[in-house]
Parts: sequence; structure tokens; C-alpha cells
Amino acid sequence: MEVIIKQDYNHVCEETVRLIYQAWKKKNNLVLGLAAGKTPLGVYKRLAELQKKGEIDFSQVVTFSLDEYLGLKENHPQSFASYMEKNFLQHINIKKENIFRLNGTPENIDDHCREYEERIKSFGGIDIQILGIGKNGHIGFNEPSSSLSSRTRVKTLTQDTIAANSRLFKNKKEVPRFCLTTGIGTIMESKMIALLASGEGKSEAIYKTVEGPITASVPASILQLHPEAKIIIDQEAASLLNEKEYYQWVYRNKERVNEFLEKKK
Ligand code: F6R
Repeated sequence: MEVIIKQDYNHVCEETVRLIYQAWKKKNNLVLGLAAGKTPLGVYKRLAELQKKGEIDFSQVVTFSLDEYLGLKENHPQSFASYMEKNFLQHINIKKENIFRLNGTPENIDDHCREYEERIKSFGGIDIQILGIGKNGHIGFNEPSSSLSSRTRVKTLTQDTIAANSRLFKNKKEVPRFCLTTGIGTIMESKMIALLASGEGKSEAIYKTVEGPITASVPASILQLHPEAKIIIDQEAASLLNEKEYYQWVYRNKERVNEFLEKKK
């Protein structure tokens, strides 16, 4: 697990874009896992800008969305499908057939979830999974107590998550209670994970994720077991970390380690 502490939200986004860009340079048919929510918005905006400048090209890129509200049609304004279209996909030159998402109104939920998992595997797995984090430590919509080896399935949202999401719904009665989410086991199979967080409101969840015990009560804490998990956060989100200075020291020395390893080859 690498903890990358940046000055502010803009730098969190820039660092994430840098990671994606570097990965894309090595593999143009990059498979990206996409989270919805406020946090990754700056990343999507910058990626679209990069493409406009001709510096990145999404024509071979494949995307998988992380989750979806159960019961919302794809074209519902609050569905994650609409979010992703509006905030990212319609601004880039990705091919329609390379966009995969969970369907909030599937005919058969179990079949749909199983096929989604198979589809991810058919592309060789997710290269970079972008994640936000809930104040309760959820990743995707894997709420606390989710099995740490869970697969794509239906989950019941917590009251707090429902309240947090309700800001986007005019009619509060419409706020979904259930969702489809890729599982924690599914997320952990991604080759690289970039979990982003910004602001003091996320500091406790980040503290528990990075320095607390691995527990289903804080789903994101499982990332401690992932060899390529990057926790990219701003100063406020990092404010409760005990080893903050050490993480910054490691980051500053990263270039030197690479130089050292290169020389040894
Ligand atoms: C969204 C998702 C959620 C969010 C999390 C943080 O697809 O899976 O886990 O990433 O709730 O949301 P924001 O970024 O709005 O604070």
C-alpha cells in the first residue's frame, strides 16, 4: 500500500491522471474501473482535457463501472450510468462497445452479476480501479460487514449512504435503498487500485483504512493486502494519520529508489 499525500484536491487528481497516463502509454487498451461520486470528478475532467489536447487516446480503452442503483434505468438522471456519461464518457473518444456497466434493472440479477464478472475476466481483468471511499469506509457500495471476498451482487445501502446520496434526488422517496456493486474480492483482483479521498470528512475513514486493523467493518482496510494499492489523498484527508511524515518521506525518496535499482541491473 502506498500512501501519497498531496497538497490539495487538484493535486490528488493530477497524481491520479499521471498514473493513468503512464499506464496507458504502456498499454493503449487499458482496462479502467470507474467509480462515481464527487471525488473522481476532477480526474475525469482532466482526462477529457488531455484527450482534447491529443495527449491521450481512449479509442482502445475499456471501462467497467463499479456500481449502480438497483431499480434505476440507465437513462434515469441519477443513475451512475448517466453520471458516467455526463461527467466522462461523452467527452472522450471511447468506443460504445468498450463501455461496460452494471444494469440497474436486469432481468435476472444473479445472471447479470455473474456475466459482469466474466466480462471483466474476458478483458484480462481491470488494470486500474479508481475508488472513492465512504465516511464509513465503504468501497464501491460494499458497506461495512460486506464479506472481504465478496463478488458482484446486490447490497442494501446504509441509512448514512442513502442520506449522503439523497442530495441528488429531488424526490427523497425515490432515493434507492439497494444497489448492485462489484464485490471486494472483485476489486482486489484489479492489478492496480487508486483510492482517492479529499477533505477532513474522510480523515477518519482514511486513518482506519491505512493504520487500523483489516476488518469487514472498514471494507477499504482490505487494501492493505493489495500489492499495488495507492491511497491518494489531500492534507485534510491525511490529517489523522500517525505516520504521515514517513509516507511523505517514502514518496520523496521514490525516484532515488528507482535510480538505485536501475543502477543495480
Ligand atoms: C461510487 C462509489 C462510492 C463512492 C463513495 C465516495 O461509485 O462506489 O463508494 O466512491 O461513496 O463518494 P464521494 O466521492 O461522493 O464522497
